[in-house]
Amino acid sequence: MANAGNSSTAPVARKSRWSLTGMTALVTGGTRGIGHAVVEELAELGASVYTCSRNEQELNQRLEEWKVKGFDVAGSVCDASSGAQREELFQRVSSCFGGKLHILINNVGTNIWKATADYTAEEYSKLMATNLESSYHACQLAYPLLKASGSGCLVFISSVAGLVHVGSGSIYGASKGAINQLTKNLACEWAKDNIRTNSVAPWYIKTSLVEHLLENKEFLDRLISRTPLRRPGESEEVSSLVAYLCLPAASYITGQIIAVDGGFSVNSFEGLV
Ligand SMILES: NC(=O)c1ccc[n+]([C@@H]2O[C@H](COP(=O)([O-])OP(=O)(O)OC[C@H]3O[C@@H](n4cnc5c(N)ncnc54)[C@H](OP(=O)(O)O)[C@@H]3O)[C@@H](O)[C@H]2O)c1
Repeated sequence: MANAGNSSTAPVARKSRWSLTGMTALVTGGTRGIGHAVVEELAELGASVYTCSRNEQELNQRLEEWKVKGFDVAGSVCDASSGAQREELFQRVSSCFGGKLHILINNVGTNIWKATADYTAEEYSKLMATNLESSYHACQLAYPLLKASGSGCLVFISSVAGLVHVGSGSIYGASKGAINQLTKNLACEWAKDNIRTNSVAPWYIKTSLVEHLLENKEFLDRLISRTPLRRPGESEEVSSLVAYLCLPAASYITGQIIAVDGGFSVNSFEGLV
C-alpha cells in the first residue's frame, strides 16, 4: 500500500524514458547504410529527424519513403566535408527546429584502402575533412542548439579501426582514433550544459561502403574467422545502440566508446577452446 502512489506513476515515467517523442535530431548521411538505419530508428521512437547527403535524387526518394512510413523526416543536400555547406545545413536545421536540437549523430565517413606509403596529400585531406573535420565543425555549429534544448546528446559513428589496427588504412584509423578522443573531451567539457557525448564503434557492417570487400570470399572468410559471432553486422544492429544512447534511459552514460563488433575487439587469439 505504501507504494500505491509510485505504482500509478512508474509506468508513465518508464514509457517516457524509452521514447524520443518531442525531440529533434540531425543525422548526417542518412540515405544509406548505418545513417539510414539511425534515421528510421530515431523516427520510430518519436523524434523529428533532419538528414542530409550529397545525392539529391536518392535523398528525395528516401524522404518520400519515410513520408509513406509516417516518419517525421526532413532533409537537404549537403556535402558534409565542405565548411560552407555545413554552415548552411545548420542554418536550415536551426530554422526547421526553432533553434533547438536534442540529438546530433555524426555519421558521415568514408575510406580509401591503401598502404600508408601510397597515400597522396589530397587523399589525406579528403579523408580527414570527411571523417574528422566535418564532425568537429558540426559539433561546434550544433553546440548552441544542443545547449538550447536543455538536454543534448551527441553520438559519433566511429569504428573499431580507431581502437586497434584492422588493416583498413592508417588515415581512416587515425581519423576514428581522433573521434574517440574527441568523444571524451566533449563529454567532460559540455557536461555542464547537460550535453552527453558517446561513440559507437562498429566492426564490418553490411553497407555500400564495404560491400566490395564483403563480396570477396577470401576476405569474408578471414573476417568471419576473426569474429566470435562469425558474421559481419547489420546496420540495424548499430542503430539500436545509437538510439539507446539518445534515450532518456541512457541519461547517466557519457564519454564512452562502445563497440558493436560481434566480439571482434576482445578476441586476441583463437586457442584450443
Ligand atoms: N560499414 C562499415 O563496415 C563501417 C564500420 C565501421 C564504421 N563505419 C562508419 O559508419 C559511418 C557510415 O558508414 P556506412 O557504412 O553506412 O557508409 P555508406 O553505406 O557509404 O553510407 C554513407 C552515407 O553518408 C552519405 N555521405 C557520404 N559522404 C558524405 C558527405 N561528404 N556529405 C554528406 N553525406 C555523405 C552517403 O550519401 P551520399 O553518398 O549521397 O552523400 C550515405 O547516405 C561512417 O562514418 C563509417 O566510417 C562503417
